[in-house]
Amino acid sequence: EQINKGHYEHYMQKEIHEQPESLITTMRGRLLRGGSSKAKSVILGGLKDHLKTIRRSRRIVFIGCGTSYNAALAARPILEELSGIPVTMEIASDLLDRQGPIYREDTAVFVSQSGETADTLLALEYALENGALCVGITNTVGSAIARNTHCGVHINAGAEIGVASTKAYTSQIVVMVMLALAIGGDAISSEARRDAIIEGLFDLPNKVREVLKLDMEMKDLAKSLIDEQSLLVFGRGYNYATALEGALKVKEVALMHSEGILAGEMKHGPLALVDENLPIFVIAARDACFSKQQSVIQQLHARKGRLIVMCSKGDAAAVYPGLSCRAIEVPQVEDCLQPVVNIIPLQLLAYHLTVLRGYNVDQPRNLAKSVTTQ
Ligand code: G6P
Repeated sequence: EQINKGHYEHYMQKEIHEQPESLITTMRGRLLRGGSSKAKSVILGGLKDHLKTIRRSRRIVFIGCGTSYNAALAARPILEELSGIPVTMEIASDLLDRQGPIYREDTAVFVSQSGETADTLLALEYALENGALCVGITNTVGSAIARNTHCGVHINAGAEIGVASTKAYTSQIVVMVMLALAIGGDAISSEARRDAIIEGLFDLPNKVREVLKLDMEMKDLAKSLIDEQSLLVFGRGYNYATALEGALKVKEVALMHSEGILAGEMKHGPLALVDENLPIFVIAARDACFSKQQSVIQQLHARKGRLIVMCSKGDAAAVYPGLSCRAIEVPQVEDCLQPVVNIIPLQLLAYHLTVLRGYNVDQPRNLAKSVTTQ
């Protein structure tokens, strides 16, 4: 066991730090830079016979649980943008509870690290019965979801041992961004956008290496939060998923109440919680939502909220002039890739909070790596 952990104390710590490498493995052989005359492109071998059908679908439905659901949520906007197809989200158990409508014209994408989660697997059976084209995105070759879907993509992140998913999350997002690029195909109107994303993917492992340098800063932040009861995480747009996933990490391993909140919903309830004591983490990425997020920060500040702001490098002073609060500065990347970078400080925070609070990082109380019963 010690050998597998290398020089790390815990699997979760190792898996967080190996993300530059796991992302490289995920992308290996799948991105083409093209020559001077050739366009950049993405090749997902497991989908090649089905891409035409996917492009013709009336709707794409993402289905998953826990972290895998959050990864799909992070990829949803770019898939909508590049495919022009409506993308809806389903938590597997909820789809089953409602027996929600799934049609033959749907493409149902099943996202699961283990490929064995009972709820996701039952939702797959349900979608197959209803005639949808079923695509699997898993980390486990030969798993039930990989076997029973019509086609799919392996995320190739390597074995993940820590119960709290970290490197699988970032690799899942990257696979789904590549899926969006593949479905978007060669539409001229979005060529520049696709090229920028592909270049961004090539450079992503470097940016992840850079953001991992925040390790000690996040440990320091964890020290200041060690006795808190609760942590709110506000995000929107591409980083709504980051807010949900960051809060899930803190809840799962540090056993601290944490809630990811869609910042656009702030005034419809969460604002009532704001006072000078409750720590609030706000993600303010430089994307189309930036000015809206600045206004959220302003409103939280006006109510004396205890803010921690995550923003792009060099942006701390620009986020909200005159505001003095803790800023976590991260490298800026293409908007749809920002969730990959932005989750890492939150993974580190959850990890350090857990160790400092004296809890079991790799096997949190009451949780299992793969939930194979309903
Ligand atoms: C469990 C794990 C989570 C995981 C979820 C879905 O709850 O503790 O970390 O996100 O299952 O697992 P899957 O293997 O389907 O991604």
